Amino acid sequence: MHYTLCDMFSDLTQNSIEAGADTITVDIEQTETSVSCCIEDNGKGMSPEQLKRATDPFYTDGIKHPHRKVGLGIPFLIQTAEETGGTWSITSDVTDNGKGAPGTRISCSFDLTNIDTPPVGDVTGFFRQILTFPGSYEMIITREAPGFGYTVRRSDLLEALGLQDQGEFADANALSLLGQYLESLED
Ligand SMILES: Nc1ncnc2c1ncn2[C@@H]1O[C@H](COP(=O)(O)OP(=O)(O)OP(=O)(O)O)[C@@H](O)[C@H]1O
Ligand SMILES: [Mg+2]
Repeated sequence: MHYTLCDMFSDLTQNSIEAGADTITVDIEQTETSVSCCIEDNGKGMSPEQLKRATDPFYTDGIKHPHRKVGLGIPFLIQTAEETGGTWSITSDVTDNGKGAPGTRISCSFDLTNIDTPPVGDVTGFFRQILTFPGSYEMIITREAPGFGYTVRRSDLLEALGLQDQGEFADANALSLLGQYLESLED
């Protein structure tokens, strides 16, 4: 399987959506030799017990993929980071535990000089994918790379395309314009 780091980051962001978050921040910072990503959400969070299970490659709740025997997303990130000299950390709080802010924060970094590190992959394709999940949620993406950087908010992008009432990028034309705009930010 030819998996990129962006594929992994995309899976993690999808978890945030699935956790019912209405605000998600995604920060990607890239240098010539490293890339780090931090995804923070205000979704339902995980208890210490749930978090332990989510990081265990041999555990899956069996709900979403009833025929699969192991979970993939988070354990795969952990395994890849550990095998390639990268770092990872996950903290999470359940919404109703009464202490601290609810939600989940995952951060990780990868050494791009290690030959076993997967390629970064398609960064703007990743942004477009996570901005266009159905439903109404705010997403704030910050990108830093050698020579350029930017921040985009999903609500601003929807408004710029006149889609603020619709609340999502539903039609092909909007998706195409969004893709072009994101590409233009990379130059
Ligand atoms: N951001 C998050 N907020 C709350 N719970 C989370 C979050 N990320 C992961 N989890 C919990 O951890 C479990 C495992 O996540 P993981 O991505 O490994 O597998 P999955 O989402 O169940 O399946 P897959 O990603 O393979 O489709 C999830 O089912 C969910 O219960
Ligand atoms: Mg998942």
